[in-house]
Amino acid sequence: MYARFARPLLFRLEAERAHHLALGGAALAGRLPGLTALIAGQLARPDPSLMQTLWGQRLSSPLGLAAGLDKNAEAVPVFTALGFGFVEVGTVTPRPQPGNPQPRLFRLPEDAALINRMGFNNAGADHMARALHGGRHAPVWVNLGKNKQTPNEQAAEDYLQSVRLLAAYADGFVINVSSPNTPGLRSLQAADELAELVGAVLSEVRARRPALPVLVKLSPDMQEADFAASVDAAAAAGVSGLIVSNTTLSREGLRGVRRAEAGGLSGRPLEARSTALIAQSYRLTAGKLPIVGVGGVSSAQDAYRKIRVGASLVELYTALIYAGPTLPARINAGLAGLLRRDGLTQVGEAVGADVRD
Ligand SMILES: Cc1cc2nc3c(=O)[nH]c(=O)nc-3n(C[C@H](O)[C@H](O)[C@H](O)COP(=O)(O)O)c2cc1C
Repeated sequence: MYARFARPLLFRLEAERAHHLALGGAALAGRLPGLTALIAGQLARPDPSLMQTLWGQRLSSPLGLAAGLDKNAEAVPVFTALGFGFVEVGTVTPRPQPGNPQPRLFRLPEDAALINRMGFNNAGADHMARALHGGRHAPVWVNLGKNKQTPNEQAAEDYLQSVRLLAAYADGFVINVSSPNTPGLRSLQAADELAELVGAVLSEVRARRPALPVLVKLSPDMQEADFAASVDAAAAAGVSGLIVSNTTLSREGLRGVRRAEAGGLSGRPLEARSTALIAQSYRLTAGKLPIVGVGGVSSAQDAYRKIRVGASLVELYTALIYAGPTLPARINAGLAGLLRRDGLTQVGEAVGADVRD
């Protein structure tokens, strides 16, 4: 249905207009009484084998929505109804900001990929606090960034300010130091700076909500030794988990006509790289730190591959644009089938199965 009817119409629009139209529709659907329950009845019934409890949170599916799609937490109920086990909203900055000039989002259909240089366009942490007021059917994590105008020396204060405004409403926080579209942001993931930032955010969160998980989202573009140092630093600082990975600046092997656009590349071309980094992270942390695998997941097989090399959870964004709203339910069903095929009764048993000694 989506591939035959909705996608051709949406893809005729400029990419960001299509995004706002689809997200606006989802937000509206979320406000219509009974509609999300109806959708959830069709799509959000993950097999019990997909259930896990992490950080005291019950996750009905290991598949979550990656950050950047619902930047202002406008449509959480609908994403939950589609079968996502958790939703990551943001990136949010303490003060609202417009992001980069448009156009800033590009489709590369030949590569099943997107390039974006949105630049953390968002309505600010106050606005998000209001949007997250109220109940929910799945955990909602808030991805935190710094405002473009904030110099790196004061970046920590931006993260802390958002924590103060949002701790009462979030089920977890993600420290985003890996988006390529905020100048200087990625230098915060260097080991020393990262340790300091993670320590500061953790104590701010612990003072308010001791049980909330705090994760760090890393870039796929670091040198191997630097990546290892950042993982070690985050782990030593006491982070609750890692998200691997954000978009890449690499343009290797692309065919799409928009491949020269500046920004972060997501989707299929990122799949193998992010999977390799998940395996590396799992080894570096000896399987002790939950890893959220993200990058180019478009099928149950892709998700399962990431789980088997060490991801406890997986997320996606780009594939939803290409495959449409029934994708999470299809991935859930496929994952349950793969677990059965391998004689496993719970998804947790598959985590890291291919890299354990
Ligand atoms: C248009 C767009 C906007 C994004 N915005 C954010 C963001 O604000 N914060 C963030 O941490 N990641 C952001 N991401 C990265 C995704 O969360 C994800 O890490 C990346 O796209 C790889 O997953 P995918 O291949 O399934 O899309 C964005 C991705 C896209 C395509």
